[in-house]
Amino acid sequence: MIPDNGPVYLDNHATTRVDPDVVESMLPWFTDNYGNAGSGTHAMGVEARDAVEAARQQVAQAVGATPREIIFTSGATESINLAMVGAVSRQLITQCIVPKTEHAAVLDVADQLERQGLSVCRLPVATKESKAPGALDLDNLDAMVCSGPTLVSIMFANNEIGFVHPISDIADIVHAHESLLHVDCAQAIGNCSLDVTALGADLASFSAHKCHGPKGVGALYVRRQQRNVRIDPQVFGGGQERGIRSGTLNVPGIVGMGRACELAGEKLDAATKQMAALRTKLWNLLLEYIPDIQLNGPPIESGLRLPNNLNIRVPGIDGATLLAELSRTGVAASSGSACSSEQPRPSHVLRALGLSEEEARQSIRFGVSRMTSSEEIEAAAERLKGAVESLGHV
Ligand SMILES: Cc1ncc(COP(=O)(O)O)c(C=O)c1O
Repeated sequence: MIPDNGPVYLDNHATTRVDPDVVESMLPWFTDNYGNAGSGTHAMGVEARDAVEAARQQVAQAVGATPREIIFTSGATESINLAMVGAVSRQLITQCIVPKTEHAAVLDVADQLERQGLSVCRLPVATKESKAPGALDLDNLDAMVCSGPTLVSIMFANNEIGFVHPISDIADIVHAHESLLHVDCAQAIGNCSLDVTALGADLASFSAHKCHGPKGVGALYVRRQQRNVRIDPQVFGGGQERGIRSGTLNVPGIVGMGRACELAGEKLDAATKQMAALRTKLWNLLLEYIPDIQLNGPPIESGLRLPNNLNIRVPGIDGATLLAELSRTGVAASSGSACSSEQPRPSHVLRALGLSEEEARQSIRFGVSRMTSSEEIEAAAERLKGAVESLGHV
């Protein structure tokens, strides 16, 4: 039983609860062994290095890579910056292509590359009237990539509407033109099965805190099988991570990321089924309670959407007001990307789907996790109904 106004956390695209097993795996690396993984002259340093290598193996296994293809970073934002800026600086690249619905961590890097003289193309996506809102037109992508060596950066799955892109089809197009593909996989681990080698990614970015790991740690995959992808470092110093990312390694964070990835793999099948069932239950309850509610993004059961994602709007009700009312009753949800939720601008993702500014402002996003319960879903649906009624919706 959830007490009245007890917390119901449904903002799992923004971040997830750290799994208690992950916390436990991290603790000794703060207290008993706080050695520097770069200190090869004593046992504490060597053990820390071994722990980092064990975590590298766990992360590699979870994403379908080999350990030597994994570089530890401070999170997906840093990985994306390193991948995109590092690739453009190292390789012969004349243009960068990004869908308009990417996360700010990609769009802002593309803007910066453009200011530095690179040609940048921002691709539109299918609109809300289509069967697959959020999808890219792959013929259009093909036509754009063919104009020169290109860096294409595309997310595995969208953090607002959950749209899952056909990465291996995109990789085929990109590679046919001898270009490079970076995939932002921040929302993928634990929510989808993931094999970056099979998908054909050249570079891929990951974040621990989206899959029940700690904040401030992530990884970059740099392909070395079949293709030896090269990037220039962006942070210089002690030469850690084979010189690609200098800086003393965050041993507890890296150990936590390794364990989080391992758990995500072990629990994947059960978790994705459970999350999809809870997400669909929430949608069905909301449809029953608020008949004119609208779904944003791909259809619920289309297979085009992350199993944990729901994005809705209630016509006539402002999303920020609704979120404040929900928050008062203990429900955590959001208007979209956590990184930009302080900004009053309506979601660029929803605008790209063709929603009006008003419709985009009405929209709110829910994200369940493998730790969400059925009772929480029922409580959230009832509280949303109450919030909508208290705001005068009939
Ligand atoms: C799709 C996507 N890319 C990148 C990021 C940034 O990840 P991090 O918080 O690890 O820097 C996020 C986080 O919201 C995300 O959802």
